[in-house]
Amino acid sequence: MTSLSPPKDKIWWNEPIERTELIWITIVFLWGLVMTFMMPFWHVVGDQNISSETYKTTPEKFMQQTQAFVDEYTVRKDDGPRQYPVVKPPPGGDVYLVARLWDFWPVVELKKGESYRFHLSSLDWQHGFSLQPANINIQIIPKYEHVVTFTPNKSGDYSVLCNEYCGIGHHMMIGKIIVVE
Ligand code: CUA
Repeated sequence: MTSLSPPKDKIWWNEPIERTELIWITIVFLWGLVMTFMMPFWHVVGDQNISSETYKTTPEKFMQQTQAFVDEYTVRKDDGPRQYPVVKPPPGGDVYLVARLWDFWPVVELKKGESYRFHLSSLDWQHGFSLQPANINIQIIPKYEHVVTFTPNKSGDYSVLCNEYCGIGHHMMIGKIIVVE
């Protein structure tokens, strides 16, 4: 093995470690331990990367289920530019939300303090589901149905943001969930 400037001493690994380098290695190692600990810590305390169940599906099947959900529980049209249906499932019920290039469909209206089972899938490719201000963050992958339980504890408009880069319209991929008292 050669290099442009080979070390003077070929047995370089027997050289003592510089003090500054040793300090640096120690800091990095300890920080690595902190970060490793933070993953399970935030899972439990932060409620951010919440546990989800995942099932196999297809875009066609998931779209059918979402359409059935929309047909059954639509209460009005949203006043946004796209006039999406506002769908109000019964408290404790299932919610179907489609992620696609570049929006989330439909708009959902929930009741504060009630738990809902969210079913999420993508019709095309990978998107993110970042629900603010609840601070829930999961990935949505096509051909998989992700199911998470969500209990809104604050009324108002929530935003669903896509936080996986998915092309030219990624920054406009924003959905809406309305939580009422
Ligand atoms: Cu969808 Cu970014």
